[in-house]
Amino acid sequence: IKQINIESEEELDDIIKICKVNKLKKKTKISVRVNPDVDAETHEKISTGRSEDKFGVPIKKVRRIFEKYESEKKIEFVGISIHIGSQIQKISPFKKAFVKVRKEIISLINSGHKISTVDLGGGIGIDYGKDKIFQIKEYSELIEKLFLDLKIEVILEPGRFLVGSAGVIISKVVRIKKGENKNFLIIDCGMNNLIRPSLYNSIHKIIPVNKQIKGGLDKFDIVGPICETSDIFVKDLKVKKKIKKNDLVIICSTGAYGSCMSSNYNLRGEAKEVFVKKNKVVTSI
Ligand SMILES: Cc1ncc(COP(=O)(O)O)c(C=O)c1O
Repeated sequence: IKQINIESEEELDDIIKICKVNKLKKKTKISVRVNPDVDAETHEKISTGRSEDKFGVPIKKVRRIFEKYESEKKIEFVGISIHIGSQIQKISPFKKAFVKVRKEIISLINSGHKISTVDLGGGIGIDYGKDKIFQIKEYSELIEKLFLDLKIEVILEPGRFLVGSAGVIISKVVRIKKGENKNFLIIDCGMNNLIRPSLYNSIHKIIPVNKQIKGGLDKFDIVGPICETSDIFVKDLKVKKKIKKNDLVIICSTGAYGSCMSSNYNLRGEAKEVFVKKNKVVTSI
């Protein structure tokens, strides 16, 4: 194990106990996850770096932890880690947080602590259709500017940025329902397959597979088949009027937080997953 990023002193106590009970000979490498009290300016439910969020150790308490456990034989501190949230669209929160981390690292090094890694977490946002995201170059330049001279290993944990746009869900229209004031396009994908819209009000682009459907457009709420009002993907989407039962639609950018957050709620099965490489199916689950 390269290192364990601890979330709290209590967790560190548990790790030390486990090391002792198992009579581990090697020291376990520990990095302290810092809560910098920075608002990532993302959705409330995926913000992790404010003081009111449950994550990390308040930055002002980090030094005390390093000092308290300095002589502990079972562990060895190697660095600081941070992760302030997900789907972050502006560079400024990263800058605020990283500046604080840099200061803390310098202060720890100056007091004689050995810092060999800084784990900057993930959080880089992607464009789901209408999002304006900072350029990745700004991110890399920021990291270079703030950490290169420290000559420590920089660890990054981007998740969504790497895989979010690599996946789509293909779903079938189950029924077209005319409501009193609305039309509903009921598809066979539900919130159990993709929970982001109901959990975070996130909007994924939805496009019909068949681009040849003729005629004008109409507004539809695109909904799943589950008995929850929140089983809805998007409201008032303009879709070709003549779309019909069994037509396919694509829900875009579902490569991150899609299948890994899926469930069997409502006794529904998981979606079949197919991995495609250069137009060939390479694995199917
Ligand atoms: C500690 C940590 N690192 C990295 C990530 C990945 O975040 P993202 O997919 O936004 O890059 C997460 C996501 O929850 C996380 O909790």
